[in-house]
Amino acid sequence: EIYLGGLSGQVPPITTDLSALAEIARDRMEPTAYGYVAGGAGTGATMRANRAAFDRWRIVPRMLRDVTVRDLSRTVLGTRMPAPVLLAPVGVLSVVHPEGELAVARAAASLGLPLVHSTVASYPMEEVAQAAGDAPRWYQLYWPRDREVAVSFLERAERAGYEALVVTLDTFLLAWRTRDLDQAYLPFLQRVGLANYLADPAFRAGLAKPAEEDPAAAVAHWAAMFADPSKTWEDLPFLREHWDGPILLKGILHPDDARRAVDAGMDGVIVSNHGGRQVDGSIAALDALPGVAAAVDGRAAILFDSGIRTGADVVKALALGADAVLVGRPYVYGLALGGEEGVRHVLRCLLAELDLTLALSGHTTPDQLTPDALVHA
Ligand code: FNR
Repeated sequence: EIYLGGLSGQVPPITTDLSALAEIARDRMEPTAYGYVAGGAGTGATMRANRAAFDRWRIVPRMLRDVTVRDLSRTVLGTRMPAPVLLAPVGVLSVVHPEGELAVARAAASLGLPLVHSTVASYPMEEVAQAAGDAPRWYQLYWPRDREVAVSFLERAERAGYEALVVTLDTFLLAWRTRDLDQAYLPFLQRVGLANYLADPAFRAGLAKPAEEDPAAAVAHWAAMFADPSKTWEDLPFLREHWDGPILLKGILHPDDARRAVDAGMDGVIVSNHGGRQVDGSIAALDALPGVAAAVDGRAAILFDSGIRTGADVVKALALGADAVLVGRPYVYGLALGGEEGVRHVLRCLLAELDLTLALSGHTTPDQLTPDALVHA
């Protein structure tokens, strides 16, 4: 399609090199918004480690296999997806583009890809669900300290058609993020960062005055309950009690934690270091994947994120044991550069490159990818 367009002098409006998006977006975004998206914890060592880990694994292409007919689709925990790719939960997207999560939901839905809605999204989950229409959607929970609010979030998500629950464990505090600190910028404190809380009856019930009359008190109330560092493995039954669908724990890096999640009856784990935004100097997510895959041993779904930039990266993560991957910053830069159309462009490029890489390395389905498809360079 792109090459045919070239015959009549058209070139893509946004680069097809998804690894170059950040640099292009930097010039077009507000410095505060760019810092928020691009930033990592501390020195950025974990973000660099995420990329370095991908560079160390190399695909070994196989020849003379008929790869004419290919099928990228997969079903993960009952959710059918046209390719094993989901949109990672990313908070407060209206600081990137006014249509924020609504534009993302429409772009994802147009391709049938599932999106994971963040607790700190800038549009309420009900509106995002409507924008997603019939397309699959999952809900990400920052587990609030307040029990009533947690229950209310889960009930709302279930009512709005979110099929699976992703519980993020690595962010009960925001890390030392120097770009945000240097600009004294915390988008969660903007009114839009509270959208899902302000739309919540249980949250509003805890406010002495309406948020409109006393915004500072609303922010303080939010900060006090955003997430709870006292949570332990013993608290997991609460989730089961209030959520009927599949539950995944996001932020798992140690094989023992993966084993424990499975033993606790969780349906899946997401191997992730939050895109290098939480623990500076953390293990690269890809380096954690083989150990988690061995520990889980087929007893639960394994998803992966942190550092996926290209179709080849998806192939590597699938080969090392992921059932599907989540992509974060690339689609956010697409949103910054072109709204809904920009997100769609990024996702289509990623899927096309995944399809080509799979075929050119001699495979027709994600199931065929095993560690044998790679060497460690
Ligand atoms: C995130 N991430 C995230 N995760 C989550 O569970 N809830 C959230 O609200 C957010 N918010 C968020 C904001 C921004 C700006 C970024 C970049 C990331 C983490 C996200 O889901 C995912 O783990 C990483 O983005 C994956 O890494 P890459 O693909 O960005 O390298």
